[in-house]
Amino acid sequence: MADYVIAIDQGTTSSRAIVFDKSGSIVSTGQLEHEQIFPKAGWVEHNPNQIWNNTREVIGQALSKANITRHAIAAIGITNQRETAVVWDKTTGQPVYNAIVWQDTRTQDIVNRLAADGGVERFKKTVGLPLATYFSGTKIVWILENVEGAREKAEAGDLLFGTTDSWVIWNLTGGVNGGVHVTDVTNASRTLFMDLETLQWDDEILKAFGVPKSMLPEIKSSSEIYGHASDDSLLRETPIAGILGDQQAATFGQAAFQQGEAKNTYGTGNFIIFNTGEEIVHSENGLLTTLGYKLGDAKPHYALEGSIAVTGSLVQWLRDNLGMFSSAPEVEALAKTVEDNGGAYFVPAFSGLFAPYWRPDARGALVGLTRYVNKGHIARAALESTAFQTAEVIDAVNADSGVPLTELKVDGGMTANDTLMQFQADILGVPVIRPVVAETTALGAAYAAGLAVGFWSDLDDLAKNWQEDKRWEPNMDSAERDRLYRNWKKAVTKTFDWVDDDVQ
Ligand SMILES: Nc1ncnc2c1ncn2[C@@H]1O[C@H](COP(=O)(O)OP(=O)(O)OP(=O)(O)O)[C@@H](O)[C@H]1O
Ligand SMILES: [Mg+2]
Repeated sequence: MADYVIAIDQGTTSSRAIVFDKSGSIVSTGQLEHEQIFPKAGWVEHNPNQIWNNTREVIGQALSKANITRHAIAAIGITNQRETAVVWDKTTGQPVYNAIVWQDTRTQDIVNRLAADGGVERFKKTVGLPLATYFSGTKIVWILENVEGAREKAEAGDLLFGTTDSWVIWNLTGGVNGGVHVTDVTNASRTLFMDLETLQWDDEILKAFGVPKSMLPEIKSSSEIYGHASDDSLLRETPIAGILGDQQAATFGQAAFQQGEAKNTYGTGNFIIFNTGEEIVHSENGLLTTLGYKLGDAKPHYALEGSIAVTGSLVQWLRDNLGMFSSAPEVEALAKTVEDNGGAYFVPAFSGLFAPYWRPDARGALVGLTRYVNKGHIARAALESTAFQTAEVIDAVNADSGVPLTELKVDGGMTANDTLMQFQADILGVPVIRPVVAETTALGAAYAAGLAVGFWSDLDDLAKNWQEDKRWEPNMDSAERDRLYRNWKKAVTKTFDWVDDDVQ
């Protein structure tokens, strides 16, 4: 009897496999981190083979911890870090280069070249995105132009591109022995190549980028059977039936299925997604237009998204690069050694600024420093930066939708931080609410897969599983809130125009 669904969450910092039961509760988890490779300033890579090996191992961990075999699993759902690009040789199964991660800024010259004719909004009407290093399209171009022999092999039809959902599924379904090369609409909507209306690759755009169509995966819905795990896999014969990019998966796992619903995920970065239903809405305020989900043959749901590059990774940076503490949760105790930020503001524009500014010329700055400021203030300023960046995106969402959000559903690793969540509610002036299952990313992928095989019957069946765990109510004097927010915005302006010809 298949009582469970397994979700593979191939994230930026780790890969997880989570077994869920029908109530959407976690039965077991396997998790392994992979190496973050920083070859130069602004470059971020992962080793795709390590990602695939870890994925296999965490599946084993999750099955053995639950003490079940694949016979107990009805379906496999996949969710993934989204814009991270892998290019591999389909004849050998080997990547031609490391995965270039979404935070990587090496492709700014390629962006500038493409934007020379028509500006960064050149393809925005079609794909919903500005030209930016963030999206996978420019990363493919970099590999074709910089890896010896890659262009020729790609033209000969030997190379495949995929985000890590495609890479994992291709390997899980047999790799060189008949691996299935697919992605879903949500991941495809982050490449810069997919037409939001037709949900197909756009030939004109591919031509402008010089990317052969033969490299690209087939675009599928987010919930259907794409293939089965291969015979040499622990999950052999189990259908792979759901794919959602991690942020869309978290939205789905939060049961934010209806127009007007929103969530904010606090992980490596923060990502606010606002469901716009079946309507494609173009933002006037620096948000991206993206796919929300598409269930089988049903009409797609679209969304507006505010992507913030650096939030949880700033905490990691304080831990790893400055050695301020040895584990991420310790940032809270350090922040609580002080009453407030002591006048310090930390703008973590490590990859430039994403939403709502889209300023590739920005770089990180810690401003307002005096002799008074100590490491407690810096820890607090780092946490506050997550809340301020979120507030700026929520302002953009409210301006675009015309209907201010009255509460914010949250999830992700940083929501364990009570001090941050309280400050978030204070700065937004609306309640912040966390569900019982904070692993909404994996849950959303499990839901998409379970729906496709009839494990769950419909969206109402899923919505019933959502339960509130904790709520933070705003509790700050509005004059103080306004003062802090004004100062934050002033701090942001100090990061602009930093990158020029003189900066490496
Ligand atoms: N108590 C805490 N306070 C502040 N930050 C925290 C805390 N616990 C974890 N984090 C941060 O949250 C992030 C991890 O969150 P989460 O596990 O949701 O991310 P993730 O899903 O692993 O990220 P990704 O999907 O990008 O791999 C890390 O960047 C870490 O620094
Ligand atoms: Mg994640």
